[in-house]
Amino acid sequence: MKIKYLLSLTLFIGSFGFIHAQSETALVEARVNDLISKMSLEEKIQYLGVYDNYCIRPIERLGIPQIIMSDGPVGVRNAGKSTSFPAGVLAASTWNRNLIEHEGKTLAQDCKARGVHILLSPGVNIMRSPLCGRNFEYYSEDPFLASQMAVALINGLQRNGVLACVKHFAGNNQEWDRGNVSSNIDKRTLHEIYLPAFKAAVMDAKVGTIMDGYNLVNGTYMTANKYLNIDVLRNQWGFKGIVMSDWGAAHDALADVKGGLDLEMLLGNAEQFTVEKLTKLIQEGKIDENMIDEKVANILRTIIHAGYLDHVQLDKSIPLYNPEAEKVSLNMAREGIVLLKNKNILPLDGNKIKKIAVVGPHANALSWGGGSSTTIPFNYSTLYTALEKMVGAKTKIVLVKDTLSKDNIFKSAVFYVTPESKERGLKAEYFNNPNLQGVPVYTTIDRSIIFDWQAGSPNQAIPVDNFSIRWTGVVRVPSSKIYTFTAKADDGYKLWVNGELIMDCWRDQSLTQNSAMYKFESGKDYSIKLEYYDRTGNATVMLGYQDNSMVIDDAVKQAKKSNIAVVCVGFNNDTEVEGADRTFSLPGYQDALINAVAKANPNTIVIVNAGGAVDMQNWINKVKGLVYAWYPGQDGGQALAEILYGKVNPSGKLPVTFDKKWEDNPCFNFYHAKDGKKEVEYGEGLLVGYRYYDTKKIEPQYPFGYGESYTRFAYSNMKVYPKDVNEYEVSFDIENTGKMDGAEIAQLYVKPINSRVFLPEKSLRGFEKIFLKRGEKRNITITVPADAFNIYNVDMEDFITNRGIYELLIGTSSRDIRLRAPVTIK
Ligand code: BGC
Repeated sequence: MKIKYLLSLTLFIGSFGFIHAQSETALVEARVNDLISKMSLEEKIQYLGVYDNYCIRPIERLGIPQIIMSDGPVGVRNAGKSTSFPAGVLAASTWNRNLIEHEGKTLAQDCKARGVHILLSPGVNIMRSPLCGRNFEYYSEDPFLASQMAVALINGLQRNGVLACVKHFAGNNQEWDRGNVSSNIDKRTLHEIYLPAFKAAVMDAKVGTIMDGYNLVNGTYMTANKYLNIDVLRNQWGFKGIVMSDWGAAHDALADVKGGLDLEMLLGNAEQFTVEKLTKLIQEGKIDENMIDEKVANILRTIIHAGYLDHVQLDKSIPLYNPEAEKVSLNMAREGIVLLKNKNILPLDGNKIKKIAVVGPHANALSWGGGSSTTIPFNYSTLYTALEKMVGAKTKIVLVKDTLSKDNIFKSAVFYVTPESKERGLKAEYFNNPNLQGVPVYTTIDRSIIFDWQAGSPNQAIPVDNFSIRWTGVVRVPSSKIYTFTAKADDGYKLWVNGELIMDCWRDQSLTQNSAMYKFESGKDYSIKLEYYDRTGNATVMLGYQDNSMVIDDAVKQAKKSNIAVVCVGFNNDTEVEGADRTFSLPGYQDALINAVAKANPNTIVIVNAGGAVDMQNWINKVKGLVYAWYPGQDGGQALAEILYGKVNPSGKLPVTFDKKWEDNPCFNFYHAKDGKKEVEYGEGLLVGYRYYDTKKIEPQYPFGYGESYTRFAYSNMKVYPKDVNEYEVSFDIENTGKMDGAEIAQLYVKPINSRVFLPEKSLRGFEKIFLKRGEKRNITITVPADAFNIYNVDMEDFITNRGIYELLIGTSSRDIRLRAPVTIK
């Protein structure tokens, strides 16, 4: 019967390709229905809950295999060592679709070599604020650039046999209190800024799976958000795949069943989609068994369509150590590192330089952000090791070791119980509540503050969750100097020195490290107080302090003796990490280090590792070079050395605006939840990043789309050809007029001239990256699709054409427009 029906359907439809697609779809649906008809209700419900932490449950008697997932996005992290790619923000800085598709292809190889079916990647949330602890995993502040990168990566993965999972749907633009805060976003902003990358993943790349974030949107948890999961994702965009929860993001069985969640994921066993809860809901008539069937069908359809029922995913012919992936990772770093400042210092001249001092905490480190994406590589290079290899005998590379290393700072800290006493340690008061209320249930003296109780508790008198501790005592230092205090904890902590609050991180968060400086005079005792609480999950707290001058003095000494000083600063997996937000200023003593080195040697270059902008006001005018390395992956050191020496001409451009001050950022007034409410109003609306800076005519530190090169490019000969209704082809010439071969990223922005509806000053709608030999000139064509002139109409709940006059701008950055031409949209 079904086959006959299929036949008539295919005859009815005219084109062969379409017939083929239709019949394949029908066959898949037939297989899905057949399997579901053989499953008991219990089996179906169990199928909707996590299996073995990262898997979908196998049902052997029906030939349904176990489906294995892994994080993403910077590598296949859950199955031992693997290629560690640069972070998403660097990927977007390449603006190179082919390269990112190649990344996806080699990620797929790494997956198949380990039997992984679904890679939990890409992360496409919009970078709204530089503080978001996970910006580094994401692509851009701009929805078009983020969409293009997402589509390229997903195509690379899915065309090579691995399903992608686009995350974190939607509005997960901060890590601070991510599990409790509602992102309140008006519908137009939602559809024009925060959803396009998800929409492109679904409609253009046909992504197989999507992950609902931890947060709420407009008052409803994402896993229960019917508007986004069903009305928009399924009904408007036509998504046919799997909606899974982020790990532990599902909270309410009934709301999640109705709100469009298919698969509950977490570490451990399902908590909402359990046989007990869902059977009860069916018996009570609150949900229908069909709803369960639909969810099972979404999962089965996706994995059957991917071929996972018909072949084994593990491909032993692919090596675990993957040279092709390693090359792609290196090429990404070469193309995505951004040169931001160059006052006649770069590229370095190997013949003239006798000595380079390489200083700072990142000089000899693999720099990466922390959390679920951290992928351990088989091997890696650092800037120091790469320079050592690259330079000839003429140049000496001196590494100033970072003795303020992570563990040292906690182990070396000495505390005294009371002023003038010799008794070491801090008085500790332990409370069996998270608010330090009432009488402590346990008191003791703790010699040092290095505690990692994980999921346990400090002792029997204290519960495993919801406890707090106050430590008091004294710090005594041998000489008058500035000291850096470093604390890290999961969850909240506050630190006072001499009654002054110098660190305030009093909130639910995963392990977060912060530092603050304090000036001491020798011979004095300084009182110290640390308060800490654990909410749930892991409990960790550490405190240390150290004399900055240990590192700074050494760096200054070496910088004075060198021709060039390279200061490598930034964040790392302790300070820029999932589950917490970071500071805008560089951690600890790093600003002081840059200033001291720049004073000692005028030829100072700064290299920053971070997922977004940092505060550079107190040093940027004192240094000659600034290179933004983001988190450049396992071979970032190699790529940086090549760029410093001009073996590679930098071509990366910023996918995010760099603010001068955090206060300048459009969401500054709207970032943190106000008045104790768990709600963040996205009050800046459409004006995210450059849309704000350009509309309000405020000067950023570095504009969106900006990045310097060792060569120059001239733009000319712009022509606009109408292609279809409101669709244009824009052609122009680019010539490499400088002295080196190099790549340029030409950007096309649309600027409204007489719009009746409010629009930002300009919006990116196209770009092309082109490699040109020195002296070479080429013609480029960029298509501007009709939807570049669309706006979201809230009443019609759809995009509509916004008629009027526009200008098409061609620029080398958002603030350096070289060509322009008007168009009229009807
Ligand atoms: C992250 C996800 C990740 C998941 C599984 C969560 O904490 O938010 O991005 O895929 O863990 O590791």
